[in-house]
Amino acid sequence: MQLLTVRDYLEMSLGAANIVSNAVTARPNLTICLPTGRTPKGMYRELVRRRRVEGLSFFDVIFFNLDEYVGLAPEHTQSFRSYLRRELFDHINVGPANIYPPDENYEDTIRNKGGVDLLISGIGANGHIAFNEPGSILESRTRIVDLAQSTLDGMRANFTPEELPRQAITIGLATIMEARRVLLLASGKAKAQILARALTEPINSEVPASVLQGHPDTTVIADEAALEVFH
Ligand code: GLP
Repeated sequence: MQLLTVRDYLEMSLGAANIVSNAVTARPNLTICLPTGRTPKGMYRELVRRRRVEGLSFFDVIFFNLDEYVGLAPEHTQSFRSYLRRELFDHINVGPANIYPPDENYEDTIRNKGGVDLLISGIGANGHIAFNEPGSILESRTRIVDLAQSTLDGMRANFTPEELPRQAITIGLATIMEARRVLLLASGKAKAQILARALTEPINSEVPASVLQGHPDTTVIADEAALEVFH
């Protein structure tokens, strides 16, 4: 695991965008698995800028999503499909049929596309990666999961009580561990405690992100606030 410490959210975003654009330039038909949430928004903004200003091409890139809510219409503004369209896909040159949201055949689809070259993830306040909530096992694959209470509490502000999704489909920890390269992003002091646990505790299922310690090519980009426990 390689840890890159950066000053703030902007530096994290630019560092992440650099890794993505270098990877896409080196291999135009890269397969990338993308996250949602607040954390990657700045990275997406910079990738969109590079498309617009520098002509960076994503035409042959295959895009997977880490996860998606179950029971929410794809057009709903809070769906991860909507999020990724809004933050990235609507503003770059995505090739036709190169976007694969998670479904029950996901493991086969990923395998048929040659596996995931670059997987980007944030970390949930409870240590989840994608929607692998605490208790997820290392062997887990793409599946439907019940969202943890702490995850639901964090979502309530964005949904009416009736529409609040209680389940999600997520790639598994085994799927994540098979990605050739993983990039974990963390910003802000709200992530400091859980990031410290993920980086320093022995690998354990109560902090699913800790599995990345066993991944051969993981880069963590974290800002000073997210690393304040170590100061
Ligand atoms: C969400 C997503 C994760 C994301 C995490 C952190 O629930 N399923 O993929 O990494 O929570 O979100 P944020 O970046 O907004 O802190």
